[in-house]
Amino acid sequence: MKAGGRHFETIWLKPGDPSVVQVIDQRFLPFDFVIEDLTNEEEVFTAIRDMHIRGAPLIGAAAAFGIYLAQLNSGKHTSPDAFLQQTARRLKSARPTAVNLSFCVDRMIMAIAEGSGRREKNERALETVLEIVDEERENSKKIGEQGVSLIEAASRRKTGEPVNILTHCNAGWLACIDYGTATAPIYKAHEMGIPVHVWVDETRPRNQGSRLTAWEMAENGVPYTLIADNTGGHLMQKGLVDMVLVGSDRTTIRGDVANKIGTYLKALAAHDNGVPFYAAMPSSSIDWSVEDGLSEIPIEERGGDELLYLETYTGGKWVRTPVARSDTPVYNAGFDITPARLVTALITERGICKAEKSAIFDLFHDKNTKLL
Ligand code: MRU
Repeated sequence: MKAGGRHFETIWLKPGDPSVVQVIDQRFLPFDFVIEDLTNEEEVFTAIRDMHIRGAPLIGAAAAFGIYLAQLNSGKHTSPDAFLQQTARRLKSARPTAVNLSFCVDRMIMAIAEGSGRREKNERALETVLEIVDEERENSKKIGEQGVSLIEAASRRKTGEPVNILTHCNAGWLACIDYGTATAPIYKAHEMGIPVHVWVDETRPRNQGSRLTAWEMAENGVPYTLIADNTGGHLMQKGLVDMVLVGSDRTTIRGDVANKIGTYLKALAAHDNGVPFYAAMPSSSIDWSVEDGLSEIPIEERGGDELLYLETYTGGKWVRTPVARSDTPVYNAGFDITPARLVTALITERGICKAEKSAIFDLFHDKNTKLL
């Protein structure tokens, strides 16, 4: 999608130097557009953990690049295999909730194991990471093509009045390779000339909504309005939300959706007001080994400083200002689980389905190990 009028993706190999991975450093958005060079697996780990890059599909792809860089560097280690295994464990631990991370790391390790000799292993690592990037780009594009039918139908019902879509956090192109998950149908509708308007909530405490989604909408000419996190329910009661459209960091085989903290409250308000609640995700965000989201998905707990301080951007730097006593006890969960019963449908690259095990496996029968 566009940034400053130019097409960008979120992660790529540095032109002319395939030993360097480049990413848009999201810490500086929406004020500065900074590209960061990542030259080894440890820098990739830091970029994921400290959220220079974030969003489930992107951290999966970034972790794959981390394994690729580790493979290039593995010759310096007495046991290259042990080094790769240790890097895999470290990368997986960077952020626990998004399943894409372990999925991509395991895929890279398996692909490298199939190569014999360093040169072939390096080639397998490069091929596989580029495959992952291509697939995720394509997945997002297809999510857009599938999901736009829901916006088209709402637009017909509204006889061409703008379709009001409430989103949460940033499930945009910045969270993926391109297009996004929740935003992909929105961008597609906009491109097709279907009038849309997006309610972007701030998504405290890290403000991925106000800092990232609002920036994406502005850069790509999609009409939007920023709202406080608590405004969604009020807008739904007033009939000002036609659908809620969010992403997912991990979806279970029965359709429970783990996503940014606050998603569950949006789903409850949507249920109470008869507003459809859709979650969009590529199959790389579906955990085929998990059924019950509440008991089986690890929820990332983040540092208390995110609640104790507000940050303002001054002179190219984020400056912290306290907003609570420094000894205030804090609980800061990064994600929550929306149970399948509150999800109207899932939007995937293969189609739209009910948040139910049988419907998910109808689309993804190749993932059903019981049938294979
Ligand atoms: O903590 P973050 O910013 O990585 O959380 C991101 C989200 O919760 C997104 O909604 C999610 O990754 C959706 S996938 C594009």
